[in-house]
Amino acid sequence: MDVQSVAAPAIAYGGPAVAVAGGLSFLFLKTYLSQQRANPNRLPSLPVVPGVPLLGNLLELKEKKPYKTFTKWAETYGPIYSIKTGATSMVVVNSNDLAKEAMVTKFDSISTRKLSKALRILTADKTMVAMSDYDDYHKTVKRNILTSILGPAARKKHRAHRDTMAENLSSQLHALAPRSSHEPINLRKLFQSELFTLALKQVFGKDIDSLYVDDLGVTMPREEVFQVLVLDPMMGAIEVDWRDFFPYLKWIPNTGFENKIEQMYIRREAVMKALIQEHTKRIHSGENLNSYLDYLLSEAQPLTEKQLLMSLWEPIIETADTTMVTTEWAMYELARNPKRQDRLYEEIRNVCGSEKITEEKLCKMPYLSAVFHETLRRHSPVSIIPLRYVHENTVLGGYHVPAGTELAINIYGCNMEKEIWENPEEWNPERFLAENEPIDLQRTMAFGGGNECVPGLCKRCCLLVWASVEWFRSSSGGLMMILVKT
Ligand code: HEM
Repeated sequence: MDVQSVAAPAIAYGGPAVAVAGGLSFLFLKTYLSQQRANPNRLPSLPVVPGVPLLGNLLELKEKKPYKTFTKWAETYGPIYSIKTGATSMVVVNSNDLAKEAMVTKFDSISTRKLSKALRILTADKTMVAMSDYDDYHKTVKRNILTSILGPAARKKHRAHRDTMAENLSSQLHALAPRSSHEPINLRKLFQSELFTLALKQVFGKDIDSLYVDDLGVTMPREEVFQVLVLDPMMGAIEVDWRDFFPYLKWIPNTGFENKIEQMYIRREAVMKALIQEHTKRIHSGENLNSYLDYLLSEAQPLTEKQLLMSLWEPIIETADTTMVTTEWAMYELARNPKRQDRLYEEIRNVCGSEKITEEKLCKMPYLSAVFHETLRRHSPVSIIPLRYVHENTVLGGYHVPAGTELAINIYGCNMEKEIWENPEEWNPERFLAENEPIDLQRTMAFGGGNECVPGLCKRCCLLVWASVEWFRSSSGGLMMILVKT
């Protein structure tokens, strides 16, 4: 059909109003025809959550927990639907089966990412595994991190660091004991500090007390280094630049936003450079430690300075955030569930009595493992998988999904599916006890799925929960503190 011939008579017949109507139907028809061309199998279009002109559904996503809004919409529009974030279309997936279809079966069509402006700056334009497209660079740096930190052989090599982490946490808690019955204990601070130490040891071989940062001309205490490497970028990552939603307006400056994120980038770069320089000197002087830096400089395929810096920063930020959040939620739930706390403590006492906490004993503690998995299900620290980009037309759940769409996999929504999880709102570790060990990580998809899944991270959370519960029970008879979860 010739579109021009449909629009033209409308303009000829009756003045401006008809001309506008004609123009609109022309646009509509053009869009319709291009969609039909792109959807050769005439598959049904996705359910659409209605929004307002120009903004789409942005106003409803203003609050900080979009995963909850997505889950609420799924009750009305089904497990997969489309929304508009300004000028961009986004498909939201809220079911386990569809998430697996997207992450595994249709991975080839959805293996790239479209990052927000803040993330583009902070990830040095996708120079990290978790935020890069699935290309040769991704494969190289993923191999590096698996070989040196995350894979089974690497985990064995870093075993001593995790043992020290559990011992340190335990002794720090005991040191706090005399004051603890009346004073609140900031568990987050302890977990954060221990996990930061673990990350620094894995990445550079050693912890630090302070650091001289040449590029900034200052000596930073450890807390400030943590602020620059972890807390600032985490806050920066959720900063919103309104131009992300209206790419056609990107020529308008947003200087305040850009300066803020660029400052974070510059400071992080300066601190990482200082750490790299200090440890490179150590390596050149012949002191070799079993660290990621040692590995990257000696064994791995050479990286550019920027790639090296980002590769080393990646495990630091990933360790400090996800593991800490999971452990904190587990402690929160145990404090609210005294019977389950009793059951876990009983298991701990039966398995180790007064002996030291060690990883070998973890496999004898099914209830601790169930606590961990249920915490990941109910409070997944990555509630929405970093946004993917559909780079070629594909089909999801029987619907046509056009190229150019963003894809949000709502892990929280998947783990709230009533058809799969009985009383999904309830934190109930017992639901994982009936399963055969080892528990299938794909059930909660808390570590992602398919090619991008990160395996083998359960131990560090379990060790922290174990050390904390053991201490709270043995020193104060119960975990009953008031927890303020933010
Ligand atoms: C409880 C702890 C953790 C949870 C729940 C978690 C969860 C996740 C999730 C959901 C993804 C996204 C997967 C995707 O895009 O499909 C991811 C990616 C990743 N995570 Fe974690 N993570 C945790 C801890 C860590 C730690 C400690 C490290 C490193 C030391 C790490 C390294 C990575 C890497 C390298 C990726 C990218 C994998 C890829 O794209 O192939 N994670 N993680």
